[in-house]
Amino acid sequence: MSKFIINGGKKLKGEISVHGAKNEALKVIAASLLSEKEITMKNVPNIEEVDRLLELCQSVGSKIRRQGTTVKMQTAEITSTELDPGLVKKIRAAILLIGPILLRKGEVKLPHPGGCAIGQRPIDLFIDGFAKFGAKITEENDSYHFKAVKLKGMNFFFPKISVTATEVMMMTAALAEGKTVLKNSAAEPEIPALAEYLNACGAKISGAGTSTIIIEGVKKLNAGEVEIIPDRVEAGSFAILGALVGNPLRVVNCRPDHLESLFSMFDKMGVDYKVGKDWIEVTASKNIRAVDIVTHEYPGFITDLQQPFTVLLTQAKGVSLVHETIFEGRLFYTDKLNQMGAKIIMCDPHRVIVNGPTPLYGRRLESPDLRAGFSLVLAGLVAECTTEIDNIYQIDRGYEKIEERLGNVGADIKRVE
Ligand code: UD1
Repeated sequence: MSKFIINGGKKLKGEISVHGAKNEALKVIAASLLSEKEITMKNVPNIEEVDRLLELCQSVGSKIRRQGTTVKMQTAEITSTELDPGLVKKIRAAILLIGPILLRKGEVKLPHPGGCAIGQRPIDLFIDGFAKFGAKITEENDSYHFKAVKLKGMNFFFPKISVTATEVMMMTAALAEGKTVLKNSAAEPEIPALAEYLNACGAKISGAGTSTIIIEGVKKLNAGEVEIIPDRVEAGSFAILGALVGNPLRVVNCRPDHLESLFSMFDKMGVDYKVGKDWIEVTASKNIRAVDIVTHEYPGFITDLQQPFTVLLTQAKGVSLVHETIFEGRLFYTDKLNQMGAKIIMCDPHRVIVNGPTPLYGRRLESPDLRAGFSLVLAGLVAECTTEIDNIYQIDRGYEKIEERLGNVGADIKRVE
């Protein structure tokens, strides 16, 4: 198994470029199965999670050509209605395929999907949404069977705001018969980006990016081309890295307008940063102050930045409260930061108190999940001595060639097989 060896304490200087958004790429890949025609995607990140979803699409009939960051795929025919349990266990994004397969084949079997171990991650919203479209759903041996001769437009109020459930209902409604109105929808930037792509293929979607999305179903979708937006989580993680060890670190090819919640915290803490149209430049400073954060749906503080931001809080003066409201299992990694010298007290599964600043020391650790794994990389880059991070498959799922990119700005990090 591969691991990272990091010799921390180095200042990082230069430009680090942001890749395409994992959370848009996955959705566009799945949405491409709505059409029989070819789709061209540009700026697709070369990461495990994307590879696994492409593999799953191939297993149901998609033909895929990949050159660098461009992916061309076409699903002229769907050849299977049963999703491979082995692959589905690896990626929660498998759930995105229910709509396209059900619409084209009238049924689909989905084993309970996997993904990051960051809480219970139920799928009740998907079940309720598809039932409202008119599908019959049965559950057998931890597997769901969706059946429908035709899906009909509907009105749905999300009892809980969910990014993927919003996207799945939106893309399914694009080809359902009649009008669908989705209320209390998620508004993350990847959602209007997906709607823009679907509209370019002939869908009729309005309101994406607000809490009410209205979709007029159409009979078919055409070929399309899309450029994936820059990954705001990656951009935010690099900006936080700059606040820890930047001398300065310039994050380029990004969308700073998607990161206002992070900058409002930087302002309160006294982080030294500058922002341009598509770049952020951050310099580490010793005098940053503690702040409280509460994760929230967009445009609130991003739950995927909570972990790297907590590493920054270990270097801030004073007491900070981190309140994770989206997932119930997303703070346990703080125990690993404590092993490195942080002083973090868990109040309950949703809240921790961070006492700073504390020096961090290298340790041998295991990456628990994608975002927490990357926060351990950040902590390793700040820490004195050597940090070893095992189970980096979890980090590769979302960050492309991260050791190379960090190495280019002066980090001492290497991958050992
Ligand atoms: C997406 C992102 C992930 C991010 C998260 C929150 C992708 C591939 N992943 O995940 O990086 O951390 O949004 O911004 O886009 N829930 C239910 N029932 C359901 C579905 C969800 O209760 O049927 C709950 C979840 O357990 C969670 C909350 O809703 O507590 C929000 O999760 P959701 O927005 O669905 O996250 P994902 O779309 O899986």
